Amino acid sequence: MINWKLILRSSAAIVSALIILQRIHEQLNNNKKRLTTLSPRSRGVESLIGNTPMIEIKSLSKLTGCKIYAKLELMNPAGSAKDRVALSIIRANEKLGKLKPNHGDVIFEGTSGSTGISFAVLANALGYKAHICLPDDTSPEKMQLLKSLGAELEPVKPASIVDPNQYTNAARYGAQKINEDSSNNKNAIFADQFENDFNWRIHYSSTGPEIWEQMEENLDVFINGSGTGGTIAGVSKYLKEKNDRIKIVLADPQGSGLANRVNYGVMYDSVEREGTRRRHQVDTLVEGIGLNRLTWNFQQGEHNIDEAIRVRDEQALKMAKFLCINDGLFWGSSSAINCVAAVKTAFKYGPGQKIVIIACDSGARHLSKFWKDAAELPNDITLQDIIEDIKSP
Ligand SMILES: Cc1ncc(COP(=O)(O)O)c(C=O)c1O
Repeated sequence: MINWKLILRSSAAIVSALIILQRIHEQLNNNKKRLTTLSPRSRGVESLIGNTPMIEIKSLSKLTGCKIYAKLELMNPAGSAKDRVALSIIRANEKLGKLKPNHGDVIFEGTSGSTGISFAVLANALGYKAHICLPDDTSPEKMQLLKSLGAELEPVKPASIVDPNQYTNAARYGAQKINEDSSNNKNAIFADQFENDFNWRIHYSSTGPEIWEQMEENLDVFINGSGTGGTIAGVSKYLKEKNDRIKIVLADPQGSGLANRVNYGVMYDSVEREGTRRRHQVDTLVEGIGLNRLTWNFQQGEHNIDEAIRVRDEQALKMAKFLCINDGLFWGSSSAINCVAAVKTAFKYGPGQKIVIIACDSGARHLSKFWKDAAELPNDITLQDIIEDIKSP
């Protein structure tokens, strides 16, 4: 006798299973159509800061036998790691009652570019005015960008930090003048990225943990240059607390005294010799990193830096071109310096290591200076051309 009940139940089960399979299939197809993970909806440009992607640099991994990764800080909304610092300084000053939005308050900063751009964007977004003092030989595209963003610009002659007209001192003085002027009720702050404690702390509380999580708690070396020192100080402290065997390497441009400070305890560069320095700053094409003085932020991380690698401009230029041609990565000069140091570290300590560098900004910020020279280089540069003494892994 035919068991209709059983047949009906089995058919219903089969139909349900088919429907579920079809749904799964549709879901998989939908996911396949997406090029990348879709970010959730958020509010305001400031909500896009941080949680930057991490990618493997395929060419460098292949040629070194290591895994070399870059944390793409250039994907922050104003284009660099400085977005984190600028937002953190603004929020801290709002809490302290030193900044009130939509009240004519002014944020002064002395910066050769990236931090000024971050402040200019966030000042617009959060109800402030940005006043940026910077060396007058800063790349024209950075100046143009700041101008387009509506920031007040005060270009000054490159000078030593002891000079009252040095760009950091000019910014401090500008803020002071507004605060002392009783004819208005505007407030001004001097952001002071080099000495401001919120700088390294935001990298300790955000950039460091992101790297740790993205690397699934498994990395051997972290490499970065130092401008203010905030990134390397904050990230190194976080990573060393998680695993003190992680090596921290400073990538330093020519003309900077920081590499000698880390390796030999002396802040001295050969261009300091009388009559050999071409300008009053670090003598390099590279913008954003390298210094001949110790800042508060650098000092907060100095004890965690295991070694420093000196990179010549010529090597940085070749690396920038190499990454562009071989990986489609069009990066700025400090990112290129970090990659030269990563390759040197890979060959020094051997294959199998996991190395993380920061890609701080895009090549587009450097078109008229660094990339003007890099663009002239041939497309067929090899790693051997960049680092003359490398051996195969
Ligand atoms: C392009 C670029 N890379 C790297 C850095 C260095 O970052 P930090 O100031 O945290 O040392 C800076 C700093 O301004 C920068 O502008």
